[in-house]
Parts: sequence; C-alpha cells; structure tokens
Amino acid sequence: MSIDEGFRLMLLAWIGLAPAIALVLLRIAAPYGRHNAKSAGPTVPAGIGWFLMELPALLIFPTLVIAMGTASASPSLLMLLALWLLHYGNRVLVYPWRVKSGSPMPLVIMLSGIAFNGINGVFLGLGLTGLGGPSAIESIVDIRVVLGAIIFLGGFALNLQSDSVLRRLRMDGRPGYRVPTGWAYRFVSCPNYLGELLEWVGWAIASWSLPGLAFALWTAANLVPRALAHHRWYLRTFPDYPAGRKAVLPGLL
Ligand SMILES: NC(=O)c1ccc[n+]([C@@H]2O[C@H](COP(=O)([O-])OP(=O)(O)OC[C@H]3O[C@@H](n4cnc5c(N)ncnc54)[C@H](OP(=O)(O)O)[C@@H]3O)[C@@H](O)[C@H]2O)c1
Repeated sequence: MSIDEGFRLMLLAWIGLAPAIALVLLRIAAPYGRHNAKSAGPTVPAGIGWFLMELPALLIFPTLVIAMGTASASPSLLMLLALWLLHYGNRVLVYPWRVKSGSPMPLVIMLSGIAFNGINGVFLGLGLTGLGGPSAIESIVDIRVVLGAIIFLGGFALNLQSDSVLRRLRMDGRPGYRVPTGWAYRFVSCPNYLGELLEWVGWAIASWSLPGLAFALWTAANLVPRALAHHRWYLRTFPDYPAGRKAVLPGLL
C-alpha cells in the first residue's frame, strides 16, 4: 500500500468515526457549560481551557502549510489558510479572554478538544499540501472557491455576532442563563453553532477535499447534537420560550 493510499484509508476511518460520535453525543451532551456535571472530574478556568484546547488548531494546519513552502502553495490554499487564521485567530486569541462562562471547563473536555484539533490539523495540513493525491483546485477564481469563501464569511459573521449576543446577556455580572433574543435568535436557539457549521461547510466546498469534508462532518457531529440538547434545555427551563424557534436549522431542526 502506498503512503497516499494509507493516508486516504486513515482519513476514511476518521470520517467513519464522526457519525458514531454524533450518536454518543445525541445521548450524552458533552459535559461543559450548562451540561456540566460534577462527575466530569477536575476542571480548568473556562478561558484557559478554550485557549489551550484551540491552540493546536491555530498552530498545526498553518505550520504544515508553511513548512511545505507558501511560495509554491496554490492561491486557493493560501486563501483557505487566510480564512483559517481569521477563525482561529478569534477563537484562540480573542474568544477565551472575553468569554463569560458560568462554570469552569472539565479537563477531560479540554484534552479531548486538544486531541481532536491535533488530529484534524494533521489531516488537513498533510491532505491539502499533497498527501492522498493532488489538490483539486488551484485557482482562486474557481466557482467552488468563491462560493465556499462567501459561505464561510457569512458563517463567521453569524458566529461572532451570535456569541456576542450571549456575552451581553451576562454584561451586568449576573451569572445564570436568560433567553437570548433578536437577530438570528428569532429563528434558532443556537445561531452561533449554525454560523460555525456554515463556516466549515463553506471551507470544505472551497477546499473541495476529503480532509475538508471530514472537518465539516466532525463539526456537525459535535454541534448538531449539542444544539438539540441546548434547545431541549431551553424548552424545559423557560416555560415561555418562543415556540416557533428551532434548535439550529431555521424552520427545520
Ligand atoms: N467546531 C466545533 O466543533 C465547535 C465545538 C464547540 C464549540 N464551538 C464554538 O465555540 C463557541 C462556544 O461554544 P459553546 O459550546 O460554549 O457555546 P454556548 O453553549 O452557546 O455558550 C457560549 C457562551 O455563552 C454563554 N451562554 C450560552 N447561553 C447563554 C444564555 N442563554 N444566557 C447567558 N449566557 C449564555 C455560555 O455560558 P456557560 O459556559 O456558562 O454555558 C458560554 O460562555 C461557539 O462559537 C461554538 O460555535 C465549535
């Protein structure tokens, strides 16, 4: 078996694991935030947890692209790198220091996030720089790249804006949960997750690659079950919760 074939086989196994994880997360919500459980063990402050958990994502994919030589990288790969840095620049360098979480992050969540971001970063970094076959798109004016970038940027804006609505709910310093309102919260309980999903679906389209698809599927495997759990929690907790609001896909789910 060649290295390319071995890489593709591992990637397919990684993709196959995503639905299995989704099934587990549909039964047991990952224990952080409102679904935190004392049984989840030792914790770290939420901001530190987010920073350390997402740091491998900020470092690994860009390092692998740069190590392959940005001078020889295609324009489309450089654009994917720019979008990646936009998202993870915020997630690692800004988000952790602004987050107003009501509870610390279990160490087990932080460590599993580090492991996920490490594996995902290696698959993307190696896969998009040539392992597993040549990259599908070189030019930045390809319709898939343009459409994917537009979807990504729309999702990024939605994610940022929706996270900032949640932050403002605790601006007065009072912990606890309120019903978020306005903007995309009129349609779904978790527009921040919808934004994140759009980002990685758009990025996958722009990359037109198996590693890009794998990341989009893993994001859905994580965030759709969590959005459903949040939605059920809102309905249980607030008797006057808006009836028409869906969990994550407006009008659908
Ligand atoms: N790519 C991925 O697979 C992935 C996975 C997970 C998260 N993320 C992203 O990471 C970000 C944070 O995720 P998350 O799971 O922590 O999101 P979340 O559950 O929506 O919480 C985000 C922040 O807002 C607070 N919050 C949520 N609902 C609130 C309410 N009704 N009233 C007051 N405060 C509220 C939370 O506090 P508490 O902590 O006290 O609940 C937390 O600090 C999101 O942008 C998400 O898209 C991405």
